[in-house]
Amino acid sequence: MAVLSLPRALLFAGAALPFQSLAQTITTGDGKVIPATNVTVAPAAQAVAADAEANALQLTDAVLANLTAHQLSDIDLFQFGDSNATARMAKRASVGDCKVWPGDAAWPSPLTWEVFNLLTGGALIKTVPIGAVCYPNSGVYNAQKCAGILANWTQSATHANDPTSVMSPLYQGETCMPQNGNTSTCTLGGFPSYAVKIESVYQIQLAINFARSTGVRLVVKNTGHDFLGKSCGAGALSIWTHNLKWTRFIPSIRTPSYSGPAMEIGAGIEVGDLYAAANQYGVTAVGGECKGVGVSGGYTTGGGHSPMSGKHGLAADQVLSVNVVLPNGRFVTASETENTDLFWALRGGGGATFGVVTSMTVKVYPKMTFSGVTWTITTGPDTNNTDDVFWQAMYAYWRKFPDYADQGSYGYSDIFPRGPAGSGAGYTWTMNPWLVPGMALADFQAMVQPLLDEWTALGFDFTPVFFEHDNFYDAWTRHFPTESVANSNLRTASRLFPRANWANETLREAMFDAVRSVVEDGSALIQYNMNPAQPQGSPDAAANTHWRDAVWYGIMGASWADGLTQDQFEDVQKMITLDWMARLRPYGPGGYLNEGDVMEPDFGDAFYGTNYPRLLQLKRQIDPYDVFWAPTAVGSDRWRVQNQGWLTLQTGKLCKVSE
Ligand SMILES: Cc1cc2nc3c(=O)[nH]c(=O)nc-3n(C[C@H](O)[C@H](O)[C@H](O)COP(=O)(O)OP(=O)(O)OC[C@H]3O[C@@H](n4cnc5c(N)ncnc54)[C@H](O)[C@@H]3O)c2cc1C
Ligand SMILES: *[C@@H]1O[C@H](CO)[C@@H](O)[C@H](O)[C@H]1NC(C)=O
Ligand SMILES: *[C@@H]1O[C@H](CO)[C@@H](O)[C@H](O)[C@H]1NC(C)=O
Ligand SMILES: *[C@@H]1O[C@H](CO)[C@@H](O)[C@H](O)[C@H]1NC(C)=O
Ligand SMILES: *[C@@H]1O[C@H](CO)[C@@H](O)[C@H](O)[C@H]1NC(C)=O
Ligand SMILES: *[C@@H]1O[C@H](CO)[C@@H](O)[C@H](O)[C@H]1NC(C)=O
Ligand SMILES: *[C@@H]1O[C@H](CO)[C@@H](O)[C@H](O)[C@H]1NC(C)=O
Ligand SMILES: *[C@@H]1O[C@H](CO)[C@@H](O)[C@H](O)[C@H]1NC(C)=O
Repeated sequence: MAVLSLPRALLFAGAALPFQSLAQTITTGDGKVIPATNVTVAPAAQAVAADAEANALQLTDAVLANLTAHQLSDIDLFQFGDSNATARMAKRASVGDCKVWPGDAAWPSPLTWEVFNLLTGGALIKTVPIGAVCYPNSGVYNAQKCAGILANWTQSATHANDPTSVMSPLYQGETCMPQNGNTSTCTLGGFPSYAVKIESVYQIQLAINFARSTGVRLVVKNTGHDFLGKSCGAGALSIWTHNLKWTRFIPSIRTPSYSGPAMEIGAGIEVGDLYAAANQYGVTAVGGECKGVGVSGGYTTGGGHSPMSGKHGLAADQVLSVNVVLPNGRFVTASETENTDLFWALRGGGGATFGVVTSMTVKVYPKMTFSGVTWTITTGPDTNNTDDVFWQAMYAYWRKFPDYADQGSYGYSDIFPRGPAGSGAGYTWTMNPWLVPGMALADFQAMVQPLLDEWTALGFDFTPVFFEHDNFYDAWTRHFPTESVANSNLRTASRLFPRANWANETLREAMFDAVRSVVEDGSALIQYNMNPAQPQGSPDAAANTHWRDAVWYGIMGASWADGLTQDQFEDVQKMITLDWMARLRPYGPGGYLNEGDVMEPDFGDAFYGTNYPRLLQLKRQIDPYDVFWAPTAVGSDRWRVQNQGWLTLQTGKLCKVSE
């Protein structure tokens, strides 16, 4: 009999579920009964190396048969979804109307969690919220670590490197915020109960099989950038993919629709990793603007807009093949020639819906020139710009969006109010940047000059700063901002405005007035002028059809002060969805699922467009068990998080909606 300890099991007050001394054995080939430990179980669970380059150790039927032969308890829980054993388990797990909740009789016992831990090679982590080190009674108080977390709180790496931290703390219920260590208590809130630190494919397979068989809620976290609370969840087991960091350059690849250079990237690769590697390989990759966003996690599966989008479409349009672990636990490749429905769905149909992506192969392009411009313009009493001139200048810019989009533009700017709504304090408008991939500076300046002439005639005070680089990496490192994250008092929504609105002057000006009214009422506006049309010859993707004819994409949102009552808080949330977005939906029915409103009323059409019915059909087919669930994900409306106010957070039990 061996006493097993869980190396990473950390205890803290409030959620203490200490591991007991556990006795667990396995039977060896010659019939001896020996203690089950991380040393004895690992060889019995010998995984199969299928792809040495990706270090993809896989779970196979042979491994499971071996473990069954060794009589390790609970092995049925790790069977694949297409095996007979699991058909029985899945039935049992779905008897109730809710996912199994900590404390339920059906919640796995400490012994069962320990078996799971052993099988994953000790990769199971019992959740300790990132801020716990700031709480004197947490049992893990550490003043020095706390100071480090507080100092780096707004950096994405602080959260990406933690197994369960997310960058919109609103959705985990703002529990255990490191800033409140001396004034509140640390609870788990919407954090998952456990996370598995993924280093290889078999661990994902084990986690999915375990969640499906036990009925424990499953979530997937890569970096935690999600704005809708999709990468956390109370009572869940989380699959943490951040450490799947590897890239491989493929100088030339041939698929039915593409021939040229490509990169294979692990699921943990972030935009900054991708750009640095592409620069080294002498190519240009398609990624987002912020360095910490995970490329093949939520970003590409959700569509993915990029400085390259005006020329080459969405990130989803770059994908040549995807390796993915399905809801039934099987590891498959989806491409133009294999699992083609899945291939379509994974390119824009959203993360955490059809499986866990382990890696992707994506198109890359030759190095090219990037010319562009940046500026910071302020309005208000202490400047040379009145708000009236500012709006005239803005409308002049907006009117030209279809033309700029036609030239491959990526115009990325934000407008922030300099004071409360109605204070007359003015705005700050930062262009960061406007650029065109592959365009020489002289051509770029010629494109922009007519607008600047109009502004001069208006008496608008501005100072453009032009640039030109012979590669993307230099343009990106020098002219893009570093985003700060983890502001808890902030919620955003977004809209995609189609080109057709510009063909009718009345409609166009009414759209501008509506957007202006929202900004005047206190919203920030993060706006992108680009048209991510589907590139010629690239296969159909599930990405939101509203993206394809958009020439303007806007993110709007509100922040609020600490200390609001629940009613005041809900008034702000309702204002965003039911007032501000209601004003804009007539002009932009679509929104971007990765930067959208978690309360979007008709999220099926808004986030997926005309692709929704086919996506829903595939979801039911590929994930009949609803192992994967996230707010506003395809098919998510048949479950609801319990005990929420008007806004859906991730702090409650996940239950079926009665039909
Ligand atoms: C500062 C900032 C800048 C941004 N800039 C851009 C931008 O320029 N362009 C753009 O298009 N978007 C941008 N986004 C939005 C971004 O695309 C989304 O937040 C995206 O979901 C991030 O994916 P992630 O994997 O990093 O995040 P996570 O929060 O870890 O995951 C997001 C979603 O994907 C799921 N998921 C994660 N990994 C996997 C996986 N391996 N397989 C299946 N599902 C998975 C999660 O469960 C979750 O539902 C930005 C966001 C922020 C906060
Ligand atoms: C097994 O667990 C012990 C601690 O319990 C740890 O020190 C050791 O490194 C682990 N070995 C393996 C192979 O994981
Ligand atoms: C089965 O377990 C034994 C150790 O008990 C190991 O030697 C063998 O490689 C395992 N086979 C498979 C397929 O995992
Ligand atoms: C599953 O069950 C079916 C019939 O119920 C049987 O024919 C099949 O052999 C079983 N498969 C396995 C792997 O046991
Ligand atoms: C904050 O992060 C930076 C890297 O961005 C690191 O160098 C520094 O040590 C961190 N500060 C603290 C106090 O941990
Ligand atoms: C809590 O109080 C201690 C002692 O006053 C102080 O050093 C520490 O910075 C405070 N922690 C936080 C998170 O404010
Ligand atoms: C206003 O314009 C004048 C003349 O160009 C300039 O000197 C001054 O710096 C401007 N003021 C501000 C606040 O930009
Ligand atoms: C232009 O848009 C306005 C406002 O939506 C509408 O009333 C009008 O019929 C449209 N005109 C044409 C020609 O479509």
